[in-house]
Amino acid sequence: MAKAATAPKPMKVMKQKAPMKAMKAMKATKVMKKAPMKAMKKVTSGRKAKAPEVLTGNFKSLKEATPVEFAKAMTQFGRTVTVPFKLQRLIGLLKSTKGIKIGNTLDLYDHCIQSATRALRDGADEETVVVALLHDIGELDAPNNHGEVPASLLRPYISPKNYWVLQHHEIFQAFYFQDAAGLEVRDTRERFRDHKYFKACEDFCEKYDQPAFDPDYKNLPLEHFIPMVERVLSKKAYWFKDELDEISQAKADVAGGYPSYD
Ligand SMILES: [Fe+2]
Ligand SMILES: [Fe+2]
Repeated sequence: MAKAATAPKPMKVMKQKAPMKAMKAMKATKVMKKAPMKAMKKVTSGRKAKAPEVLTGNFKSLKEATPVEFAKAMTQFGRTVTVPFKLQRLIGLLKSTKGIKIGNTLDLYDHCIQSATRALRDGADEETVVVALLHDIGELDAPNNHGEVPASLLRPYISPKNYWVLQHHEIFQAFYFQDAAGLEVRDTRERFRDHKYFKACEDFCEKYDQPAFDPDYKNLPLEHFIPMVERVLSKKAYWFKDELDEISQAKADVAGGYPSYD
């Protein structure tokens, strides 16, 4: 049971042959002469720039998509789903938990900020601080498996260790409330005692999650953490090449179908 999530597999080189082929086909048809990368730089530099043409791949099913038409769709996807775009949506999820009373002295937003603040002040690495910031963004939507929400959203960008911590954190949290809740099944986290990431998850919950319900604790503002989240999201998807499990390896192999200009 403990080895399922991140069992290492021999690394295969990430291939992006299909998209490359498609991009070459696009160049041949002048679509790429719009130079979306250049256009995006002009937009972000503050100078007035003509917005690039909105591209749409002309196919009604993926079976009939040609390299040229598919490359148009990929280009438009890359222009749209940029790091700032993903950042805005992710932080939006965090902000959506603000002000919703779920029985604690702090709402989930302040709990998450406090968790991240504690991690930062403890000297945790940046990725762990980000994981602390986002660890409960799915709790209102998927209360009984909420760790899987940020784990999945961040999976391509964070280490397998932090992916495992996010996935399992609510199980480890139960250690602290099992008496108060009168849980019949106790010490559930012990089922994972031999897992290589047990200690990491135990430390995360002990130091950053379970104490982060204190209204008198001085939280840092959300803005303090935004550049950290941006840097995590800017990492190459599935950068942890030596630790890709079967599903991540397969997704890394097809990741070239979802390009980004960031
Ligand atoms: Fe949680
Ligand atoms: Fe939490």
